Amino acid sequence: MSDSLDDLFAHNRAWSARMERDRPGFFTSLVKQQTPKYMWIGCSDSRVPANQITGLEPGEVFVHRNVANIVVHSDLNALSAIQFAVERLKVQHIMVVGHYGCGGVQAAMEGARIGLADNWIRHIQDVRDRHRVMLESLPPEARADALCELNVAEQVVNVAVSTVMVDAWSQGQKVSIHGWAFGVHDGLLQDLGLSVDGDKPIENLYRAAVQRIRYKWSAPSPELAVRAEPHGNDSASTVEEPR
Ligand code: CO
Repeated sequence: MSDSLDDLFAHNRAWSARMERDRPGFFTSLVKQQTPKYMWIGCSDSRVPANQITGLEPGEVFVHRNVANIVVHSDLNALSAIQFAVERLKVQHIMVVGHYGCGGVQAAMEGARIGLADNWIRHIQDVRDRHRVMLESLPPEARADALCELNVAEQVVNVAVSTVMVDAWSQGQKVSIHGWAFGVHDGLLQDLGLSVDGDKPIENLYRAAVQRIRYKWSAPSPELAVRAEPHGNDSASTVEEPR
């Protein structure tokens, strides 16, 4: 085995020993069950590790990752993970987490051909095309970041309209879905202000989120724009392309 793989096992043994020393019984309690409160749906990108970013330990977050954090209506892999998380684990929060500088989003933005993944990334191109007017109105350097956020909003909706969520909410289960974006450049998570819990009409929440994204990235100072814009603004009169 190569030296670098040997390193991984060495680190693993050290980590296991350190955990057991600091918190005796940690692993034996994990064996019995996992009771995570959170499900993370994120990008496969190695710079976006769910547990490390959120300070969560083994047993605390149920994770599904794929290229560019896409939830497709017919993706049995994602849907099975969501069903297990909601019906069996009873997670209380599902976060869909995009990240700035995402290669999948960038490829979709540029229409670049990268191989088999073109067919997967086509889903983001659909998002791009749906919001083409808005994206073209933004400064060119802001468009990929805006599309990253629009993709998150879109995937939050896709989770929310899945049979798993519709059934869970109809049975009164308390579980909400949130849209976040992670900055590889600063290590910080942004809450995009799109949280869905089955009570409010998702159409309004989605439109308000799209409005905020447009406002944020068209403003001269994105950071100030984010702070100035309160969450929960349902006004959607100027969204040109409702889903
Ligand atoms: Co990515």
